[in-house]
Amino acid sequence: MRLNAWLARAGVASRRGADELIRAGRVTVNGEPGELGTIVGSRDDVRLDGRPLAPQALAYVLLHKPAGVVTTARDPQGRQTVVSLVGHPARVVPVGRLDADTTGALLLTNDGGLAHRLAHPRYRVDKVYVAEVEGRPRPATLEQLAAGLQLDDGPTAPAGVRRLGPSTVELTVHEGRNRQVRRMLDAVGHPVRSLHRSRYGPLTLEGLEPGAWRELEPSEVAALRAATSRRGREPGRAGSAPGRSSSSPAARPAADRRRRPRSAPP
Ligand code: URA
Repeated sequence: MRLNAWLARAGVASRRGADELIRAGRVTVNGEPGELGTIVGSRDDVRLDGRPLAPQALAYVLLHKPAGVVTTARDPQGRQTVVSLVGHPARVVPVGRLDADTTGALLLTNDGGLAHRLAHPRYRVDKVYVAEVEGRPRPATLEQLAAGLQLDDGPTAPAGVRRLGPSTVELTVHEGRNRQVRRMLDAVGHPVRSLHRSRYGPLTLEGLEPGAWRELEPSEVAALRAATSRRGREPGRAGSAPGRSSSSPAARPAADRRRRPRSAPP
């Protein structure tokens, strides 16, 4: 692992902050000054200002994000962030983002490699959203959403679409574009009234109240790794194909049912 990533995982600083510490000559590896390109293994002796550092264990957290909380580590406007809401001792950061008004499943981790792959559209990790919209979309409109739409930053990939009620639509997308679901529904004339992410890859929110979080089970981490080792799948095929219920027990790993929810600190 590169030295800056190692320092970030050890909870010393962000990767950028770690680069500054390295440039300032404050980091040594086995007694030698660390360099930006230094690769660190599990047996190396890494020190900051002469103090030995221990690598931090990998942490994976599933949060049921409530509305009104921002998906960043720090907010210049002083709003509550998902990182402060969770208050995890490890330096976990959100994977992708949900708008402040969006509720639902949000993964936080300090596993930068997995986070990077999960966020990459190549791996087509499904995200399932339930949108309450204005008006009552017609069947042809749902077909339009499913086929893909032209947005101002390019066409959307085919999506899984199900009607859950007259004004309630479930969308399964694997892209992670900014405000994508809201923009898709705006584009077909049905602005979103409320948006909830009910599933992220293999992870559902079963048993987690809004604001609560839990550590992932090892089997869930393995399922996420497996989801990022497949490429070029048809959209919607990882866990729930378009048109299939995302709450089908068959679509969930057994570990989802062995949860230990934690309430976020006030
Ligand atoms: N798409 C959106 O429009 N908003 C979100 O928060 C997530 C996906």
